[in-house]
Amino acid sequence: MSNKIVLAYSGGLDTSVAVPWLKENYDAEVITVTIDLGMVDLDAIKQRAIEVGADKAVTIDAKTPLVNEYIWPALKAGAMYEEEYPLATALGRPLIAKCLVDVAKAEGAYAIAHGCTGKGNDQVRIEVSAAALMPGIKLIAPIRDWGMSRADEIDYANERNLPINVKDSRFSVDENLWGRSAEAGELEDPGLEPPEEAFTWTISPDKSSQDKEYIEIRFVEGVPVSINNTDMDGVELIVELNRIAGNHGIGRIDHVENRLVGIKSREIYESPAGIVLHAAHKALEDLTLSRDQARFKHNVSREYSEIVYNGLWFSRHRLNLDRYIEDTQKYVSGTVQMSLYKGKCTVTGRQSNHGLYSKTLATYDRDDEFDHTSAEGFIKIFGLSLRTENINE
Ligand code: ARG
Repeated sequence: MSNKIVLAYSGGLDTSVAVPWLKENYDAEVITVTIDLGMVDLDAIKQRAIEVGADKAVTIDAKTPLVNEYIWPALKAGAMYEEEYPLATALGRPLIAKCLVDVAKAEGAYAIAHGCTGKGNDQVRIEVSAAALMPGIKLIAPIRDWGMSRADEIDYANERNLPINVKDSRFSVDENLWGRSAEAGELEDPGLEPPEEAFTWTISPDKSSQDKEYIEIRFVEGVPVSINNTDMDGVELIVELNRIAGNHGIGRIDHVENRLVGIKSREIYESPAGIVLHAAHKALEDLTLSRDQARFKHNVSREYSEIVYNGLWFSRHRLNLDRYIEDTQKYVSGTVQMSLYKGKCTVTGRQSNHGLYSKTLATYDRDDEFDHTSAEGFIKIFGLSLRTENINE
């Protein structure tokens, strides 16, 4: 049997220590895989992987699939976990698992290892996803198994002369194009306002521009394709919106959430593009979806967000929901104008060639075409069941 292990490698302390640890404890050949989902210097991390002893270091730029195959479906679905979190980390994990599986298959590895801890959602997402795509694969979580503290890890690295650079980061951070997640340290007290240092993508709203900025986003079938009339591919568009909206302090989220493993955690998110695009997309759906579609799709959004959060991306259920959502997006094309100011984005206008809004039906002016005389009969029939019930309370 092969002795190859594929390790998801970020270049940080945990996964750097994991390289020699796997070699020593499993007598393994270690192949690191570093995946760029938005803010990664692949060359620098590849070099570090070799320096800490990887037998081979693979790098993958997965920004485009992240946007097209994960972020856009989630945007179309309106997926916000517990109505607050746009699911950046949660959407990245199945793609990371897929990349690991692809490398494991290509290299003939017998196991996949990752640097997740034993109390988070991410271990579940990565392991469930990898096993869904490759049911026989062995999964190893060194950080969960080895019982080393941070200081132990540093000793372990120094004993082996590993070139680690130990940044004393106050928070535990994960980021990709769709957002940044920060937890731990002072953030663990949900009663305390997060310190300014917890934020790096957004300017504090009280220091942001005094001038309101207007932007226009155009959508085609639920997917944003241009900002201010400039067409962009998905990666560019998200990067640009993170910059524009982040400059106005938009996208900060302070969420006490329910983890799959049964604990509540306080997380600070930044998702400027996510907040702006969800608001714009919803505004266009308000104009183009029927009442029944809007109501039912809202239930699907919730279901979808739970599935993504809980790591069940590679499921028939998610595929079923995607088919439904895709069909609802057929007419979600048009433009949305928004103002950005002091931490808040506000929809100010929307247009669509497929809008269901009818001025002549809605108006209180003279050109009203709504049939007022029919209202009386409608109300009579609509209220019939309640008159029959005749509740006396
Ligand atoms: N709580 C979030 C989630 O489960 C983010 C976790 C990301 N990890 C981190 N080190 N902040 O999706």
